[in-house]
Amino acid sequence: MKALILSGGSGTRLRPLTYSQQKQLIPVANKPVLFYALEDVIEAGAKEIGIILGPNKDQVIDTVKSRTWEARIEFIYQGEPKGLAHTILVAEKFLDDDFVMYLGDNILRDGIVRHEERFRSLKSDASVLLTKVEDPQRFGVADLNLDGSIRRLVEKPKVPPSNYALVGVYFFKPVIIDACKAISPSWRDELEITDAIQWLIEHGYRVDASFVEGWWKDTGKPEDILEANRLILDDLKMKNDGQVDDSKLMGRVIIEKGTKIERSVVKGPCIIGKDTMISNSYIGPFTSVGHGCQICGTEVEDSIIMDECSILNAGKIVESLIGRNVKIQEGVSKPKGHRIIVGDNSDISL
Ligand code: G1P
Repeated sequence: MKALILSGGSGTRLRPLTYSQQKQLIPVANKPVLFYALEDVIEAGAKEIGIILGPNKDQVIDTVKSRTWEARIEFIYQGEPKGLAHTILVAEKFLDDDFVMYLGDNILRDGIVRHEERFRSLKSDASVLLTKVEDPQRFGVADLNLDGSIRRLVEKPKVPPSNYALVGVYFFKPVIIDACKAISPSWRDELEITDAIQWLIEHGYRVDASFVEGWWKDTGKPEDILEANRLILDDLKMKNDGQVDDSKLMGRVIIEKGTKIERSVVKGPCIIGKDTMISNSYIGPFTSVGHGCQICGTEVEDSIIMDECSILNAGKIVESLIGRNVKIQEGVSKPKGHRIIVGDNSDISL
């Protein structure tokens, strides 16, 4: 089996972070979201992986190449993002075998091994992963027959036929390429994968559903990223490779190499990356602090702080998503007040 992982798109719902980084590279528990997809497809037996690239293609290539993977990886540039089904057309030459398509901004707690086995045993032409959600309007939605088979799929319906959303993982036989060639762009001017699968159903191909039991997150919006961070941290095991002086560690805390914690309280689940300095601070549950950060005299809880940030005497920070190389510090000069230099589309609550 091959795998096609999507790591393109402009990530508008995650601005300003996505002005400077590809959305699939945003770290959750100090690991790029994209790596969770790569690990899942390799675990499910993929030996050849095509990664679809978008605007920040070099960043994605460099990040993927920063680690070794037990699979051959081919990078495929999408050019203009014209929808999920369009990526299949762009990758047509690569897709000469059964394959799993995995949206690189999705995270599934239990991986995809069980779903791959089901696809293989049923010999379907396509198999989609479904899960129950509260807000089906945000997703592709399945209309199911009483026996659980699929009657119809609709993309972001105003009146959803059920609460079963399409998870961003799909198993296909190469016939999906014909379907992607046959469909027309949707109202959002994209070639929708949902429409291509619907084309298979209407042309007599066998499309099965596989239900996801553990949690699933599409990290499309800031609150989804924070929620994924909580869920992943909740599953991690404690490890301390750093140096801890005059501090209290409580619960499951991961401290990476070269990191120093002084006169602080760290309460898990949380992760603190490499070469970071924490002093006179409180790092609370569900927090990921990246590599090379400095946090002093500050309380942080339920947040992601990316690499190389410097946070000094900044009060209490909660439910925040802070990009790379950000400086936050107590103002000392007059006039006293909040002095803010932030990019477009930032979101600040004081
Ligand atoms: C895409 C698919 C949708 C699916 C979702 C899962 O939506 O079009 O059917 O439910 O991924 O993450 P998009 O992220 O393009 O809005």
